[in-house]
Amino acid sequence: MACEHQTSNLKGVNLRHKRNSIGLIACVTVALQLFLGASTKAEDGYRLWLRYELLPKQMIAVYRPRVTSVVVTGKSASLNAIRSELVEGCTGLLGKPVAVADTVVHDGAIVVGTPTSSSLISGLGWQRQLAGLGTEGFRIRSFKLGHHSVTIIASNGEAGALYGAFYFLRLMQTLQPIDNLDVSEKPRLQLRVLDHWDNLDGSIERGYAGRSLWDWKALPEKVDPRLRDYARANASVGINGTTLNNVNANSQILTPEYLRKVAAVADVFRPYGLRVYLSPRFSAPIELGGLKTADPLDPEVAAWWRKKSDEIYKMIPDFGGFLVKANSEGQPGPRTYNRNHVDGANMMAAALAPHNGVVIWRAFVYDAKPGYDRAAAAYDNLQPFDGQFASNVLLQVKNGPIDFQPREPFHPLFGAMPKTQLVLEVQLTQEYLGFSNHLVFLPQMWREILDSDTYANGPASTVRKVIDGSLYHQRLTGMAGVANTGSDRNWTGHHFAQANWYGFGRLAWNPDLPSRRIAEEWINMTFTHDVKAVGTINRLMLESHEAVVDYMTPLGLHHIMWGGHHYGPAPWWNTFDRDDWNPVYYHRADERGLGFDRTETGSNAVSQYHAPVRDRFANLNTCPENFLLWFHHVPWDYRMRSGRTMWDELALHYQRGVDWTRTTRKEWDALAGVIDSERHAEVAKKLAIQERDAIWWRDAVLLYFQTFSKRPLPAGVDQPAKSLAEYKAKSLSW
Ligand code: GCU
Repeated sequence: MACEHQTSNLKGVNLRHKRNSIGLIACVTVALQLFLGASTKAEDGYRLWLRYELLPKQMIAVYRPRVTSVVVTGKSASLNAIRSELVEGCTGLLGKPVAVADTVVHDGAIVVGTPTSSSLISGLGWQRQLAGLGTEGFRIRSFKLGHHSVTIIASNGEAGALYGAFYFLRLMQTLQPIDNLDVSEKPRLQLRVLDHWDNLDGSIERGYAGRSLWDWKALPEKVDPRLRDYARANASVGINGTTLNNVNANSQILTPEYLRKVAAVADVFRPYGLRVYLSPRFSAPIELGGLKTADPLDPEVAAWWRKKSDEIYKMIPDFGGFLVKANSEGQPGPRTYNRNHVDGANMMAAALAPHNGVVIWRAFVYDAKPGYDRAAAAYDNLQPFDGQFASNVLLQVKNGPIDFQPREPFHPLFGAMPKTQLVLEVQLTQEYLGFSNHLVFLPQMWREILDSDTYANGPASTVRKVIDGSLYHQRLTGMAGVANTGSDRNWTGHHFAQANWYGFGRLAWNPDLPSRRIAEEWINMTFTHDVKAVGTINRLMLESHEAVVDYMTPLGLHHIMWGGHHYGPAPWWNTFDRDDWNPVYYHRADERGLGFDRTETGSNAVSQYHAPVRDRFANLNTCPENFLLWFHHVPWDYRMRSGRTMWDELALHYQRGVDWTRTTRKEWDALAGVIDSERHAEVAKKLAIQERDAIWWRDAVLLYFQTFSKRPLPAGVDQPAKSLAEYKAKSLSW
């Protein structure tokens, strides 16, 4: 039976076709694949959002006359990459081989390049416009070249031309019009970097999608062809940097042996505009150079870093720089030698400066001091150095003041270092958010941070404006994401976790993008064009973050995960030597109530924010309820805005989270037939785990807090399946 189906549109293009026409398209696809000699591709998620599957036939009819040939003159590796991406993309999407040509002889040519690589482009007289877009920005225009209607994709840099090509492909992948184009884009942030916490033995710290993508043993002789696909995926969303190794660094990465391996990786990434960065260990001059000290003010130490930088740039001329975790969680740093962060960062920066390299210094520093509030530590450690870092140093600050929790208020440093180049660090890998088992669309959470108003310079001093340079006009800007990729066939473990990689790139390119739009693009490119399905999946993605917060850490609770691995709840945990690694330190449950008092009567960490944010957070009556227990110790019977007690409200949040996982499973099940069976089944399996985990979270946390609140669970909250002792006995397994 032919059922009517609407094809998705992101703005304006709205199509109707019959379900049986999909069958027809499928037949055409298979025939074409045979024709093109390609085998039927498995739906294993490997192709990410660059699937280039045949588009709905109405769109093919619209697009084909406008895409007849690809004209990319010149021979560099980047230009070759542009040519092959466009040919592969257009051929797949339109189901007909698209010719490669040297010049324009028909309508529908796609002309791509730079004024240097293409005489067609240099002849356009666009010098002024292109100059304003830099080497990563691009201009796309529908244009009349002689007698022919063509599309021009132009940039002053080959990276920009490549980004433009991906932009053009995305228009078709998301069923947008490609006639009358007049687009000018440039990235709003300069450093858009994925940080891999990959160890040299192939394991990944906080990695949940297999082993490291870098096969250090096989490199440099053997380079996994997969690295090219990794680079393509990054370039397609504008990511332009990759830190290859863990911030908990191993000095070996700086040995000549490893640098040769790094150089081989950099060679694969270069055509895609992707620069390589490394995490050095601060004590490397001792471990590798045989020096007695790594004191940053020791001339021999500084000379060692200078020599090391020269060596690196000889092998990797476009090396990005160093990402440094110093004096944090046991890592060595300048303070090991009674120097400060500026001494350390500026010494390394001086070594990299002659090569235009940068130092990205991490602000994730918190001391083990009794009675100290970890949430206040990074500010206390770094804020006094505002204005003292060298011009090629950036300070990388996590989104919140603790550590990538399901929800945190924005980090107070974003409002407190106007003379420092601040980079926002977010975590794609779901260390505290259900690993690669839970569906959580993180751009929704990052939006919350980017849109937070620091009031540092009066109203509208959002975190976004701090990091994109519009508030303080710093020279260098950036955003970093702790990667969620690994050797798993689908790259990220969970098919939906690919959206977090995609979304990170899109937000780093344009930190104003709405998360709804990011999700809509990704779904169209990755799963389906079916309007109803896109709508459902989009809604589930947008709801997912709040749902996870509900069943893990509602109302401002934080860091109540099982010690060490951080999967599943353990609010009772109290066995680590360091207080601030124990959940009991964070929730402070007692007979009176629950939550961490960070106001004047407590740690007063709230004073690190500017008025009026500070006052709003500090006052129990005005504090947003989603941060209530972050800033206040709240009585169990405190009346919430709903009129319910805090205890009842807390319990209902947990229940709401569980309910979401249940309805989401049903909604996903109903998409069978619209989504390919392979990925549909794999996601369904993950959603079942997510429901199991949400129930476990609700029961374990409520049973534990009930030992303090001594109140019954309110109506509407399911009775726990097990006893508290059972939840305490063994952690939830993944
Ligand atoms: C978290 C995480 C560590 C990581 C650290 C960091 O604490 O658990 O594994 O090393 O963040 O960001 O440096």
